[in-house]
Amino acid sequence: MNKKKVYITRNVSLMPVELLEKDFEVIISPEDRTLSKEELKENIKDVDAVITQLTNVVDEDVLENAKKLKVIANYAVGFNNIDIDEATKRGIQVTNTPGVLSDTTAELAWALLFAVTRRVLEGDRYVREGKWDAFFPTLLLGQDVTGKTLGIIGAGRIGKAFAKKSIGFDMKILYYNRSRDYEFENDYNAKYVDKETLLKESDILSLHVPLTAETKHMLGKKEFKMMKKTAIVINTARGPVIDEKALVAALKEGEIWGAGLDVYENEPTLEEELKQLDNVVLTPHIGSASTETRTKMAKMVVDNVIAVLNGKDPITPVNHI
Ligand code: NAP
Ligand code: GLV
Ligand code: GLV
Repeated sequence: MNKKKVYITRNVSLMPVELLEKDFEVIISPEDRTLSKEELKENIKDVDAVITQLTNVVDEDVLENAKKLKVIANYAVGFNNIDIDEATKRGIQVTNTPGVLSDTTAELAWALLFAVTRRVLEGDRYVREGKWDAFFPTLLLGQDVTGKTLGIIGAGRIGKAFAKKSIGFDMKILYYNRSRDYEFENDYNAKYVDKETLLKESDILSLHVPLTAETKHMLGKKEFKMMKKTAIVINTARGPVIDEKALVAALKEGEIWGAGLDVYENEPTLEEELKQLDNVVLTPHIGSASTETRTKMAKMVVDNVIAVLNGKDPITPVNHI
């Protein structure tokens, strides 16, 4: 009998491919880059499973070509790169990697938060460029974090992990979701507020929502105007949740004080002016990028593929078939 085929869109050294190879034929793209849509279409037309990354757009057009596909295992928790309705219609199981990356991504949000408030990267450049001549009381003045108001949009797995880490900084926690989470409110003394109140009252605002039609451009010109001039925005969610051009304008005009960004509207491209601004810290979408976490995610991806191809329930399903 022919073995079922698993296609991996980009080689990931952390992935336990040998577990797949026991029962399936595994094909790994030899290209060390994101495949074009045409390449993806061509390469998955005959496979039973595909392991995708968030840079692979899996839309109706791609699925139309993948007649044998049973499972799309995304190597990420976010799945906005996949047309879930189309996959469901075709009986294709989609899986993701929730939970194992929550603390790691929350940690990066904190890294950005401190890098912005205490101007860590400006300080680093100042020292390296040989500009530092002496201690001086008003050199690179930043902002305190302790005692400030932390606003979380999207207090889900990562948003809550982020909030949890504020214990010790004596912060007031505000959050906004579509639904309330009473356990979170009790455990962290978090206050549920509407989006407008959150925008007006937060000193530090961190985004942790998925990218959906509803969350696209959730922060734009109007929202930045409502925020404190001393406010800081952290985005480790998805780039298009922020209107990036409006963010540049808000940062330049002093509508807000600073921003820490891991994600961008058109990755890997970003608004050129962001690179010129000193009050912004930029990282290249590395929210879950620790060796431990990426290893756990890779195992989860492989376990999902094995489960589905063996006719079992996936471990972390996105849709219900
Ligand atoms: P999650 O547990 O599903 O949490 C998402 C939260 O967003 C929930 O609290 C949800 O609450 C809220 N939400 C959803 N739609 C909303 C809306 N329209 N308005 C307000 N709140 C809304 O997801 P997670 O595991 O924390 O992951 C969150 C996102 O982080 C992922 O989707 C991914 O895009 C991103 N991420 C980025 C990185 C990185 O490398 N930078 C790493 C991991 C994840 P309600 O349903 O009650 O609204
Ligand atoms: C990363 O961005 C993820 O969604 O896991
Ligand atoms: C600063 O280094 C101080 O001693 O206050």
